[in-house]
Amino acid sequence: MGMAGDTAAAAGDTGFAAELRAATRGDHGENETSSYMSALVEGRLSGEQYARLIVQLYPVYDALERAADVMAADPVAGPFVQPGLARRAALEADLAYFYGAGWRDALVLLPAAERYRDRLEEVAFDWAGGFVAHHYTRYLGDLSGGQYIARQVQRGLGLGKDDPGVLFYRFEGKPKAIKDGYRALLDAAPWNAAERARVIAEVKTAYRLNAQITDDLSRELHIEPAA
Ligand code: HEM
Repeated sequence: MGMAGDTAAAAGDTGFAAELRAATRGDHGENETSSYMSALVEGRLSGEQYARLIVQLYPVYDALERAADVMAADPVAGPFVQPGLARRAALEADLAYFYGAGWRDALVLLPAAERYRDRLEEVAFDWAGGFVAHHYTRYLGDLSGGQYIARQVQRGLGLGKDDPGVLFYRFEGKPKAIKDGYRALLDAAPWNAAERARVIAEVKTAYRLNAQITDDLSRELHIEPAA
């Protein structure tokens, strides 16, 4: 699987959105290879195993969305901040579904999740390009492969799309329309070649931080590779 679903519009585009996608395609691919990710995509995880992923993602979105509150006032990063993207409340509802009212006690983080959160604290609060790099990597992913993963997780856990447990994947509005708008913002960002290169490098870092979480989860949970 991969980015075969590329839209014609994106493929013919030569703006920054297309440049960023092309420059990080290989990094994206490395995110699909862990046995945890395979099991996630195939709907083979138990609720307990799936919940360990959203535990790791909670501090990531918490940091990202605190950064968004700060960056909303930034002339370059501000337009990327849209209330409909925020995932924190959905994650809290999903965590409460899996762990009950005491879900905060279940937030036992892997070192990889702590590194990811620390990186966000370093680059997403006072560098517009760093904020956008991380914002793009998570939300465009949630709106892309994430929508397919959502259906597999729902099926695997026997949940409906509006049920607590899988609210994380549920966006108001059509994912494609949100993504098209987002890519237009990337194309419009006033970055020169050097800054574009820095943003691309930070997206690569973000992909690596994500991959480390699912690699660690494969080990922690002893997930078998696909048969
Ligand atoms: C096995 C897991 C995954 C699968 C099957 C998958 C699948 C896909 C697919 C099919 C697309 C293209 C959709 C389109 O053209 O509209 C896409 C785009 C994307 N994915 Fe994934 N993905 C996976 C994991 C991830 C992860 C872990 C991340 C990062 C946290 C991520 C981030 C992204 C981003 C940022 C895009 C948008 C690329 C762009 O158009 O600029 N994906 N994914």
